[in-house]
Amino acid sequence: MTTWTTVGTREQVDADNPIAAEIAGAKIGVFEVDGELHAIEDVCPHAHALLSSGFVDGGEVECPLHNAVFDICSGRHLRGEPCRDLKIYPIRVVDRDIQVADDQAEERKEP
Ligand code: FES
Repeated sequence: MTTWTTVGTREQVDADNPIAAEIAGAKIGVFEVDGELHAIEDVCPHAHALLSSGFVDGGEVECPLHNAVFDICSGRHLRGEPCRDLKIYPIRVVDRDIQVADDQAEERKEP
């Protein structure tokens, strides 16, 4: 069964301002790309910097510590320090609440 947890309100997130949340000990970043929300693992797999504190541009987030770059929509590692892809989480908006499901986190699969 999917468990949804409210992590903030829709007004708190825009294309330039992600938010950080924690669900059952998992740190999750909520980002907006082209008007859509995306929830991804917030801890950089390289050396544990928080990506929600990174630099967001054109659907990509750059880690603030060593500049690894990830695709926000897919979690794919694009360039920079070698590391695995990010987990992505189901996300929805109910009324104005942002809700993330923590029981279906999945690692991005190769096509
Ligand atoms: S901690 Fe993110 S690239 Fe090193």
